[in-house]
Amino acid sequence: MSQPLRVALAGLGTVGGGVVKLLDANRALIERRAGRPIAIVAVSARDRTRDRGVDLGRFDWVDDATTLAMRDDVDVVVELVGGSDGPALTLARDTLGAGKAFVTANKAMIAHHGLELAETAEKRGVALKYEAAVAGGIPVIKGLREGMAANEISHVFGILNGTCNYILSEMEEKGSDFADVLAEAQRLGYAESDPSFDIDGVDAAHKLTILSSLAFGTAVDFASVAITGIRHVIAADIAEAAALGFRVRLLGHGEASEKGLFQRVHPCLVPLSHPLAHVSGSLNAVVAHGNFVGRLFFQGRGAGEGPTASAVVADLIDIARGETGPAFAMPVAALAHPAIASADDRRGRAYLRFTVADRPGVLAEITAAMRDAGVSIESLIQRGVASDGNVLIAIVTHISPERAVQAALDRLEGSQSLTGKPMLMHILDE
Ligand code: NDP
Ligand code: HSE
Repeated sequence: MSQPLRVALAGLGTVGGGVVKLLDANRALIERRAGRPIAIVAVSARDRTRDRGVDLGRFDWVDDATTLAMRDDVDVVVELVGGSDGPALTLARDTLGAGKAFVTANKAMIAHHGLELAETAEKRGVALKYEAAVAGGIPVIKGLREGMAANEISHVFGILNGTCNYILSEMEEKGSDFADVLAEAQRLGYAESDPSFDIDGVDAAHKLTILSSLAFGTAVDFASVAITGIRHVIAADIAEAAALGFRVRLLGHGEASEKGLFQRVHPCLVPLSHPLAHVSGSLNAVVAHGNFVGRLFFQGRGAGEGPTASAVVADLIDIARGETGPAFAMPVAALAHPAIASADDRRGRAYLRFTVADRPGVLAEITAAMRDAGVSIESLIQRGVASDGNVLIAIVTHISPERAVQAALDRLEGSQSLTGKPMLMHILDE
């Protein structure tokens, strides 16, 4: 029989526990597909006594996960601890530096240190794999890196955070409260250990930088992503969006053009006619445009035990088959470092929501600011006085330069008529 691929597993939480269960459940099939057995030999987590619903007694337990890199009886280390730095990064550096393959689901680490790790992997001729880091169970890394390898890719965008999508969908479908749905997403194992990474858009931005690099052949660039999360989306925005024929979704958007690289994470209004409007719950979806293949749409579970473990084990099967290749679809030295494209030059429709005092002239003040900034209104909804005495005005603009919409908001800055900060969401029209 062929030699087994010997695996060390650091992290036995939602994803790590799922990997043990999956390897147990599909062992025979995986062996046939991989051409040899895949065998966990050592595991590590913080709390040795915790019941994880799987038999760990058959594996060697290690208290210090970072020692796994140096074991002679290990061919590949799987890191499912999390965190961009700390023990995860030490383990990654030591494992690749020791000439062993490394698998991770850690998008934060890949977004911040992926190029350095990929360079080490190249030098040592070993695999660095991270399919689970973006969009959970969807094989989108493979899709871009291998399936679309022959194409020039101009756009990549989509729903990249299962927690936010779950929150927005539950708020829309069930009228649930933001905090309650977030607590449920945490219970289901979707959320990051610090859930502000999810709701403030940071996790989606980590994933977007990885997709952009693979799609456009550019160096991973987290610093240039403009990030807005869903913290300020209120139930009324979701209701007004629905009344106007849209759903609210947190989108990551990457674009490569002669103006440079554009990357943004932001809550958007998605028309009901667009497939992304129908991606609900913890589902993720990624759209990519290639110059020969056209538009591809990838959809599936973006978070949770089973889908994420599926992606991790797929990486292990690749490694067992001896498949390597550059982590970012080309050698690190070949990746471009483009200019950063400004959002000011972009054009599109926008949704604006104002909460205002109920008194004469308020609507005129808002529409005057828009007129003066050269922004034309496509539709407008005004709702009557709420119990707190405020009126809600929701506006959809015609296609306008983003800089003009921002100028209209700037003109209203400090207005005594506004009782809260206005909300701006761009509208997806592609
Ligand atoms: P969990 O918090 O559920 O699990 C983390 C695991 O790491 C726990 O077993 C914990 O030990 C262990 N751990 C923490 N610190 C250390 C340490 N210093 N040394 C050894 N072990 C340690 O996280 P998830 O499983 O949800 O996520 C793991 C990774 O996968 C993260 O990078 C995350 O971003 C990523 N990911 C998660 C997805 C999901 O849906 N959950 C989807 C895609 C990616 P103990 O159990 O003893 O506390
Ligand atoms: N917290 C992440 C999410 C996990 O909700 O999408 C999957 O990467």
